[in-house]
Order: sequence, then C-alpha cells, then structure tokens
Amino acid sequence: MNEMTPIDRIQTSQELERCPFPIPYGWFMIEESAKLAPGEIRNVQAFDQEWVMFRGESGKVGVTDPFCPHLGAHLGHGGTVQGDNIRCPFHFWEYDTAGWCKKIPYAKVMPPLARKKPILRALPVEERYGSIFVWYHPDAIEPLWAVPDVPEFEDADFVTLPRGSWDIGTAIQEIGENGVDFAHLHYLHGAPGIPPGKASAEGPFFNVDIGNGYIVGKQHGPGISIMHFTQDDVVMTMFATSLPVNKELTRTRMQFTHRRYPEGSTEAKVGQKLYEHSIGSTADEESAGFESVDMIVWDNKKYRPQPLLCDGDGPILLWRQWFMQFYAGRYNG
Ligand code: FES
Ligand SMILES: [Fe+2]
Repeated sequence: MNEMTPIDRIQTSQELERCPFPIPYGWFMIEESAKLAPGEIRNVQAFDQEWVMFRGESGKVGVTDPFCPHLGAHLGHGGTVQGDNIRCPFHFWEYDTAGWCKKIPYAKVMPPLARKKPILRALPVEERYGSIFVWYHPDAIEPLWAVPDVPEFEDADFVTLPRGSWDIGTAIQEIGENGVDFAHLHYLHGAPGIPPGKASAEGPFFNVDIGNGYIVGKQHGPGISIMHFTQDDVVMTMFATSLPVNKELTRTRMQFTHRRYPEGSTEAKVGQKLYEHSIGSTADEESAGFESVDMIVWDNKKYRPQPLLCDGDGPILLWRQWFMQFYAGRYNG
C-alpha cells in the first residue's frame, strides 16, 4: 500500500518540526450559524490570522480582514453593522460582504481603486446546514469546487443529533491521516482486528472504504469529510469539518444524523450506539472513539516527513501526496 522508499536513518527530536505545514486551501467551516445573529460582529482566529465575521440585517454573512483599508482601524473593535455593510469605527467607511467600499460619508469622489475592485479582503462565504463555510486560498484564488450536498440534513425523516466541537493541538493534515491509518484502529481504538481498507484520490476528493463497506467516506478538500457508518442496515452519516485555526491548532466539528426510527426499536439503539461510539462517549465498549484516545497522540506527536512504514500500514503516503496539492506550491515535504 505504501511505496517503500528505503530510509537509512531516523530523524530525532531536534531535527523534527512538530507541524511543518503551511495553511492549506479549501472550504472550511468557520462557525455555527446560530452563533452569529443579524447585526452582530465577531472576531475569529482562522488560517493563522484574525478575521472579522459579521451578519448583515438581511442575514448575509461577511468574513473579512480586520484592518480597514483606509488607515488601518480594526473593524471588529468598535465597528458596527449598517444594513448589510460593516462600518469602520474610525471614519465611518462602509464595506459590503464582498469587501467593496460602499460608502465614504465625507468624500465627494470615491478613490479610483475602490471603484475598480473590492479593497477589503473578503472570503467567499456559503451558509448551509446551520454552518458558515468560507473558502480560503493563500493567493485569494476563487473556489475550485463546491461545498458538498448532504441530502440527509434536508430530509425530515432524519434526526438531528447534538453536534460536537474539539480543539486539537496539531495540523489539519495530521488529523485526516488518521482516516487511512487502518492499523491504529485496532491498537489505539481497540477494533477487533486491523480492518481491511481501500483508498483512492481523485482531484480534490479522497475516498476511503474501511471494513468492506462498514465505513465509507469522502473527503472534499482538506476541510470537509462525509462518512457513512453502516451496521445492521442502519446508516449513520457523520459530517466532519476541520478548521486550521493556526499551524498547530485545528478545530474539528462533527454533525451526525440517521433515519428516524421508532423509539426503543433495535434500529434506534444501533443508531445511538454508532453515534456515541463516533464521539467517544461510550464508557463500556471494547473500542473507543477518537475523543478519548486520538487526542493523546495528536496533541503530543511530531510529524515525520520520512516515516518508516511497514507492509501492514494503511495508504498513508497516498494521503500525504494527495494533501500536498492544497499547499499551493508552498510545501513539498
Ligand atoms: S480607518 Fe477605517 S474609516 Fe478610516
Ligand atoms: Fe483514530
């Protein structure tokens, strides 16, 4: 599964950087919709910098650079929402959600640059399924694929389960690598054996099948993955998003659903068990979800750019090769 590049020495602590990666590009879930009311402004850390997030009176969301293009005031400290614009506290210049300067209250003529293009950096925003997604690219290139559809979230026959959010002390690439590390499912999570697994990459998408259909997942760029867990004809959907807060901190959120079953039925119990297992809240089970065990590894490990792999490891190098594209030529490690 892994092409063996013979390595003759193992790098030691001082040679290894904990998280050597730049911030990748893609769609990322930056906040839950419910946490940003119309007229509200919030400052948020993401992609190794601070951003200002605001919701206009009509419900439109903007996510912009914090510093006003005029004289650099911070829009998120004293700024206000006016209609669908954010207004700087310093001289009351206004910007819309796409970063266009819409108003300078005391100027007779708009500066030429402000007439030509948006002057405040604004990220493309999409709001779906109770979440605010932003497209981030270090070179501000427009979205190269779409936020995926999850038809289950729009179907009244599916239940709404509590969401979870976890701050994980490592780079986003490391978290996703877990999904192709089939051996750790046995040793760290206590699965009965090492499950068989398959993986394939296609452009910005990465497919994985663990345990011959038990877990079938698709990763949409670095920030979003949709997994289906199937047990006894019950299918649970896990919608997982990861946000690179900075180079060493990732905010992973999960949202789950499955078909609505009669209370107390076997199917309802299987669904509940799949859910609890996924978030690691089962106390009495032989195998443990990620919260209780993966975190110990993630929060403390160092990335090995030249790992010593064996034939029983999963397609770790395929994952790494695939992930590289999202660094826009800034990392070839
Ligand atoms: S610094 Fe923002 S309007 Fe002047
Ligand atoms: Fe894991």
